[in-house]
Amino acid sequence: MISKKIEKAINQQINDEFYSSYYYMAMSAYCEGIDLPGFAQWMMVQADEEQEHGKRFYQFLLARDGKVVLDKIDKPQGEFKSILDMFEHVLEHEKFVTKKINELYELALKENDYPLQVELQWFIQEQVEEEKTAKDIIRQIKWIGDQSTALFMLDQKMAERGGSPSSSAE
Ligand code: FEO
Repeated sequence: MISKKIEKAINQQINDEFYSSYYYMAMSAYCEGIDLPGFAQWMMVQADEEQEHGKRFYQFLLARDGKVVLDKIDKPQGEFKSILDMFEHVLEHEKFVTKKINELYELALKENDYPLQVELQWFIQEQVEEEKTAKDIIRQIKWIGDQSTALFMLDQKMAERGGSPSSSAE
């Protein structure tokens, strides 16, 4: 049986993951609007992944006989100054998620919840990847600067990331 404190924290994490999905979907729409379909595709795959993260916590909570309570999802930001600004928001958001996962892990330690500690190992590793990927893309966009041909080529490369829901992350 899961403690009430942990049940509440996991429900919050489910909401944060679904918010992430919604946020990245808004970014995907922004990319479509500025004629970067490859980035849009990449962000949509990212949105699908966040849904999977939310579902993973959802399944974990049910498997532990916890109660899933789905809350409303906040409205995400949908406008950005540039593609660089958008990816800086991605990195900032992933840092926020990392902080939330770490806090959840601290709670799991405090409450002696061993299954949650094990489950969170995957998420802790995933956050290292997520932050690294965002940083790498920011670096590439900065290198490109105002060169539209290079941005066009990067957009084509971004389109190579999976085409269907639940594709794996880079
Ligand atoms: Fe589910 Fe991008 O963290």
